[in-house]
Amino acid sequence: MPPISYLNGTWQPPEEARVPILDRGFLFGDGIYEVIPVYNSQAFTLPRHLTRLNHCLKEIGIANPMTDAAWEAIVNEAIARSGEITAFIYLQVTRGVVAKRDHQYPKNPAPTVLVMVYEAPILERREIVPLKMITLDDFRWARGHIKTVSLIAAGMLKNEALARGADDAILVKDGRITEATSSNVFIAKKGVLATPPKSNRLLHGITRDLVLELARGHGLPAEEREITTEQLADADEIFISSSGYETWPVGVLNGQVFGSGEGGRLWRQLDRLFQRFKSERN
Ligand code: PDD
Repeated sequence: MPPISYLNGTWQPPEEARVPILDRGFLFGDGIYEVIPVYNSQAFTLPRHLTRLNHCLKEIGIANPMTDAAWEAIVNEAIARSGEITAFIYLQVTRGVVAKRDHQYPKNPAPTVLVMVYEAPILERREIVPLKMITLDDFRWARGHIKTVSLIAAGMLKNEALARGADDAILVKDGRITEATSSNVFIAKKGVLATPPKSNRLLHGITRDLVLELARGHGLPAEEREITTEQLADADEIFISSSGYETWPVGVLNGQVFGSGEGGRLWRQLDRLFQRFKSERN
């Protein structure tokens, strides 16, 4: 079936949907988004994504234009219309169209609501090739917990990594890792998992939370603590987590091989737990 989009109440193919140039999402990157995996034609952990959407909208002072129930109805209709079984759902809310370009927020904004469904072959997990990563200086802004559509810094870092022959970058601020350009980062050392604590330096990933819950629920020790670049280099395993990748091993970082280059033992165990959790839920 063709990809489908919902824009302010209208269903149409995404390539036909149009936003006016005076939309603040276009002019200022003034908006929030979510990416949600769809398994078995059902949005995975949707309530968690809607809760984060609410928090992020509040952070930038946009009133959520819809209730969670209304979001859920549109998400379900989008999946049904797309006919996709495994896919991504993309939600975006911007502050909407204004009378003129002005940094000041409009008095009575009418937010723009976009929902899209698109194919997600990566979620079928046919082949897991561990990632090649490098570390880069995290020069993004100090509100990393807000899932804003202003993604140029992440784009610059991702493309810098690609230009240097890597797949992605693990970002470092003040000698400590924050996250990767579009995922959270875990390490394993002597059988203990660790990931940086929640703060305004990084996105509070839904998959990150799930990994911690699954690990702890199955007796695997997991810490939320600062990780220095030295501790990263000294890790037994490194992997990332996101709605796009679930969990995915890092095979090489800055030219050094991790987890035998094929994904380590703890990552494997967590991936099995994640796949089981997925199949029980959806
Ligand atoms: N990225 N950190 C950053 C900077 C991210 O952009 C993402 C998600 C994550 C992981 O969050 P979650 O587990 O909730 O997906 C961490 C999405 C998938 C994207 O931009 O495509």
